[in-house]
Amino acid sequence: MPDTGAVEMLDEPAAAAELARLADVLASHDLRYYQDQSPSVSDADYDALKRRNAAIEARFPHLVRDNSPSLRVGARRSESFAPVAHGVPMLSLDNAFSDEDAAEFDARVRRFLRLGDEVVAYTAEPKIDGLSASLRYENGVLIQGATRGDGRVGEDVTANLRTIPEIPHRLAGTGWPEVIEVRGEVYLGHAEFAALNAAAEQSGDKAYANPRNAASGSLRQIDPAITAGRPLRFFAYAWGLISEPFAESQWDALAALRSWGFSVTPQARRVEGATGLLDAYAGLEAARPGLGFDIDGVVYKVDRLDWQTRLGFVSRSPRWAVARKFPAERARTILEAIDIQVGRTGAVTPVARLRPVTVGGVVVENATLHNADEIARKDVRIGDTVVVQRAGDVIPQIVEVVLEARPAGAEPFVYPTHCPCPLRTPLARETTTAGVETVVRRCTGEFACPFQRIEHLKHFVSRRAFDIEGLGEKQLTAFFDEGLIGEPADIFRLVRNETVLATLRERDGYGETSVRNLRAAIEARRTIALDRFIFALGIRHVGETTALVIARGYGDAESFLAAMDRVADRDPEAMAELDAFDQVGAAVIEAAAAYFGEDHNRRIVRALRSELTILDAEKPKTDTAVAGKTVVFTGSLERMTRDEAKARAESLGAKVSSAVSKKTDIVVAGPGAGSKLKTAAELGLTVLTEEEWLALIGA
Ligand code: IVH
Repeated sequence: MPDTGAVEMLDEPAAAAELARLADVLASHDLRYYQDQSPSVSDADYDALKRRNAAIEARFPHLVRDNSPSLRVGARRSESFAPVAHGVPMLSLDNAFSDEDAAEFDARVRRFLRLGDEVVAYTAEPKIDGLSASLRYENGVLIQGATRGDGRVGEDVTANLRTIPEIPHRLAGTGWPEVIEVRGEVYLGHAEFAALNAAAEQSGDKAYANPRNAASGSLRQIDPAITAGRPLRFFAYAWGLISEPFAESQWDALAALRSWGFSVTPQARRVEGATGLLDAYAGLEAARPGLGFDIDGVVYKVDRLDWQTRLGFVSRSPRWAVARKFPAERARTILEAIDIQVGRTGAVTPVARLRPVTVGGVVVENATLHNADEIARKDVRIGDTVVVQRAGDVIPQIVEVVLEARPAGAEPFVYPTHCPCPLRTPLARETTTAGVETVVRRCTGEFACPFQRIEHLKHFVSRRAFDIEGLGEKQLTAFFDEGLIGEPADIFRLVRNETVLATLRERDGYGETSVRNLRAAIEARRTIALDRFIFALGIRHVGETTALVIARGYGDAESFLAAMDRVADRDPEAMAELDAFDQVGAAVIEAAAAYFGEDHNRRIVRALRSELTILDAEKPKTDTAVAGKTVVFTGSLERMTRDEAKARAESLGAKVSSAVSKKTDIVVAGPGAGSKLKTAAELGLTVLTEEEWLALIGA
């Protein structure tokens, strides 16, 4: 086994290179071991490599790689666990960061439900900082347990979850539904975390950065015996699929979960109104240091389950719950440099390169500086001591400069006037459609700018887009620089090109297994959901939510692409159709027209399309009285808000539009309806009162 010298002798560049080598070598050993079940090295040699990796990382903590073997401590890669489709998706929560946000949540709920002055009851539960799991019980018996995964499909970790004492194998008591997915958080207490890390240090293994990483690593062990040795714990707080209702409120549901043998956080409280929300937050903030486990906020949930149902969901999070997060953690460090990064739309962002510092358990080396104005406003200078903060998964930020610590001679930062790309195109200050200058500066190089092209590709392969594992930033950049990948379609062409694959196999630190994995990862994404495809195109203003709305609106790829060609030609009917989709406005239409108006883009999309199988969007309901009908609400509604009416109609498969046209099927008109009602009458459309509408949908 090549061992390139004593760890103590390595300088920084040599250490970085050695860590890269070890990551590759260990990854290929792991693969042989776990996937092919044929170890390629002895356990002793494998352990020696791991120790060497850990020793180098201990000397150079800032060089720890994203794919470091130490971060995986035996954790099996995801393809080792069978996929499990959740009966009901595992969603995420919207965040609230202030008292105002919390009060606004209460106000929003009351507005949506039209409650006027009625006081709403909520549960306020600790937001446990672990990883969520879903446990499927049939007739009271645990039959399957899964991680969250992407929310729809998780990993089957049943054997590992069974080792957790707080997860009942058989439900106690009575009253459980025949089928229920119990949801909750797997976590590790502070004392157990400290003990685990102490033991790891003893045996020369790398310590985990925080209890959450440790819980995640422990749950995702190939060998359940290892998981069993980790003192994991579990709090139940929610449910997914149920064969029948079992409670009328979140509070009663928590009590039911407890009666069936689950642990439920004892700090959960039932509170009333906005003041109740604020009290609960203050109470938990005070209790936090003494809890013995990590929490990162409070989850507020509307208590009444019938109200939860009415409130429903927005995209991927419920309207009936919100996570109130604790403030970000902060630390001081030195600003070593300011680099200018070019985004996929050409917008440039200054990035602070920091002396590595641990903030809230994570090493931070970069922070965003947003824009030139922000640098000037904060008067950030190279060499300054700065306060950095990090909250959740957001990009770390520089809060302020510690002026007392400014070194003599530190000069104000001079913002570059040209893109750092090889073309050196001038940066233009962006103006709004109304001609007002914004803080955004853009490289005007567009597709000639290699920096923009690579950013497009990074977005394309990113987790929420095509999610191509194994084609990380480093690999993608290398392939781009070598001319192997210039546009998205090239990714799929690459793995069919035997000549290229053969040269890749010959590469240092690459080889047969890496090529096989890359190929499998790419092939796995040749079939893709329409909303992901749309999101991945990187059209400005089209985020995940809008992509989903657009996908559902058009239904399939052909209809979407045909419509986009017409939008590009500024066909009024096509533009109106797009405009009618919920959450799609002028900015999206303009961006879509600009994107598809570019020949270059049309060619790129067509080439990509021909490489893929694009799945139709989730079909709206077809078995309801209003399925497939286009509905317009006008005038004021008395029994529900406009938002609720819209959400309800959409959940029943109707399309809700804001404009009346001959394509409209039903107009629901309340008091005060004006021109839309008139148009409806002229077109001879069905016009219903709110009562008639409610009767039609069976509400
Ligand atoms: S309820 C529909 N309750 O927070 C949302 N989540 O950001 C159902 N979490 O993925 C989740 N403590 O991992 C809920 N008391 C609690 C929670 C909690 C922690 C986590 C959970 C979820 C994430 C959402």
